[in-house]
Amino acid sequence: MSQLSILEYPDPRLRTIATPVVDFNEALEILVNNMRETMYQANGIGLAATQVDIHQRLLVMDVSAEQDDFMLFINPEIIARDGLQTHEEGCLSVPGIFANVKRAEQLKVRAQSLAGETFEKDLDGLAAVCLQHEMDHLQGKLFVDYLSPLKRAMVNKKLEKQRRQEVT
Ligand code: NI
Repeated sequence: MSQLSILEYPDPRLRTIATPVVDFNEALEILVNNMRETMYQANGIGLAATQVDIHQRLLVMDVSAEQDDFMLFINPEIIARDGLQTHEEGCLSVPGIFANVKRAEQLKVRAQSLAGETFEKDLDGLAAVCLQHEMDHLQGKLFVDYLSPLKRAMVNKKLEKQRRQEVT
């Protein structure tokens, strides 16, 4: 297993729209293992392939406190949604930035497993937030896109400042 490097906003590659996974082969298994490793090493609760510059429709998640509830969604589709919740989100691609985003409270998702089998899963609360956030990545969308222009300008300023401090 190896750790993959995570693209950071405003890298234009984060805007790529992913294409469906068609080959359920060994290369896919290696990618999934590497994404799992990368997510846990970064202390993230979710990671979309887009973030590691692989533009295929898959994402990994684990929203448990113990990091013992790994989930993989290949070619995910939301087939039902209900309710609304507001949650403070962060993103491994937008380090140090947290902001409230409003999303569906409950979801039913259909996806494929590593073996290519189709399954359906109900998600709510943080798991539902995380899935919607990661699915946005597959469409080239970031959580900061939901913010008002004023708030987004503040985010950009903060990121610039963070980067200047990293350099010096
Ligand atoms: Ni993210």
